[in-house]
Amino acid sequence: MTQGPLTTEAGAPVADNQNSETAGVGGPVLVQDQLLLEKLAHFNRERIPERVVHARGAGAYGTFTVTADVTPYTRAAFLSEVGKQTEVFLRFSTVAGNLGAADAVRDPRGFAVKFYTEEGNYDLVGNNTPVFFIRDAIKFPDFIHTQKRDPYTGSQEADNVWDFWSLSPESTHQVTWLFGDRGIPASYRHMDGFGSHTFQWNNEAGEVFWVKYHFKTDQGIKNLTAEEAEILAGKDPDSHQRDLREAIERGEFPSWTVGVQIMPAADAATYRFNPFDLTKVWPHADYPVIEIGKLELNRNPRNIFAEVEQSIFSPAHFVPGIGPSPDKMLQGRLFAYGDAHRYRVGINADHLPVNRPHATEARTNSRDGFLYDGRHGGEKNYEPNSFGGPQQTGRALWQPFDVSGGTGNHPTPVHAEDNDFVQAGNLYRLMTEAEKERLVANLAGFIAKVTRQDIVERAIGNFRNADADFGKRLEAAVQELRG
Ligand code: HEM
Repeated sequence: MTQGPLTTEAGAPVADNQNSETAGVGGPVLVQDQLLLEKLAHFNRERIPERVVHARGAGAYGTFTVTADVTPYTRAAFLSEVGKQTEVFLRFSTVAGNLGAADAVRDPRGFAVKFYTEEGNYDLVGNNTPVFFIRDAIKFPDFIHTQKRDPYTGSQEADNVWDFWSLSPESTHQVTWLFGDRGIPASYRHMDGFGSHTFQWNNEAGEVFWVKYHFKTDQGIKNLTAEEAEILAGKDPDSHQRDLREAIERGEFPSWTVGVQIMPAADAATYRFNPFDLTKVWPHADYPVIEIGKLELNRNPRNIFAEVEQSIFSPAHFVPGIGPSPDKMLQGRLFAYGDAHRYRVGINADHLPVNRPHATEARTNSRDGFLYDGRHGGEKNYEPNSFGGPQQTGRALWQPFDVSGGTGNHPTPVHAEDNDFVQAGNLYRLMTEAEKERLVANLAGFIAKVTRQDIVERAIGNFRNADADFGKRLEAAVQELRG
């Protein structure tokens, strides 16, 4: 606890924090009551814009430990030795709800990890799903508009959601996943995480590998049924957030076993699925998940606003040995996050304690801007300079990849077994009978709320394309609900 007398922002002692100053007893309030004016003005500015997506979340610090030698694949220093440990900060989130929304809802969960490495912060901004609804960043704002509040009704509308999904058949795989049992995790501790995109790893010799990250929960997968979630969301809107904090307070540190699927660069061109299409997984039979580490969360933030609300994660934060792939979604995200941070937290967001590097220091010539703390003192602020400032290394973080052809609005290339339905159908056929029944009931409950029959038919058509039995059952279930 802070000691000493209560003060104003400028540090002067406060005599009375209960009664504002008036002209006479019972008279009007005086402008000279600087404490009152300062308190009201500061209070009015307590909120910053919430994240446009993933507004609601919870975070914790922890440790990543390397458990396998991956130096044949990447030269990233934090992965260079078995047993090596790196501090992390992980923020979990839901996607569509606003800051005050309930946790126990059917929605993907964000799984954003910041590795504070000695070569700079590496952010892996993933979800609890291995795939996504769309495969091109240009569709993201439209997609999110359909998930958020309708401009006229002010509520999420089934019509908008299913209009967009039915007109975007590439969403069928992710929607099948989301309305299955894993669509409502019981807590942030009881779900897996994924980097989702394909990323580049490159080794000391400059060889390139494409990788996908997997974080397997050591707590075991636990989900809520739609009925359980409805009750919990009402009773305890903060269920996920509380569960995480209390588990860490009890010393029950949640952990995840970290693995990667690794594809040699030469495989990519002829792989049966486009490896850079975010609506597809790489079946484990093609590329097995190799265990590389352990992630443990063991420390709660002390101040939610400073450390969770103001935390920033960017898919563009790479370190030497790791880089982007040509996945069009990822490429769009490389711009979107830094831009969001500059708007939401400000140009000096990177300087905040939760965001700045912890195992090295940032040495840039960028200066000033709102809330600049003057950390650089009188140092020169340009490069090249002959006064001994920081210098470029001459070595790129990642290796170049070949491109061919003219510029254009090219769709994502299709490989031999690619179409929008094949992996959704495979997922459906993997489910037990009881899982299929719950999936169909969950989907039908939502589709039945759509007001236009043509949207309903188009939506069901996508699931029929994935699997005839899936489509048939869904049609019957929707018909029954709509009467
Ligand atoms: C092109 C598509 C996408 C765009 C333009 C986009 C954009 C954004 C933006 C603007 C934010 C808010 C950032 C902030 O205010 O700090 C955000 C948050 C987030 N996004 Fe995306 N997103 C996209 C796709 C995805 C995908 C595919 C995933 C996961 C695989 C994902 C995972 C997340 C997570 C986990 C957060 C929350 C990060 C945090 O905890 O601060 N997003 N996204």
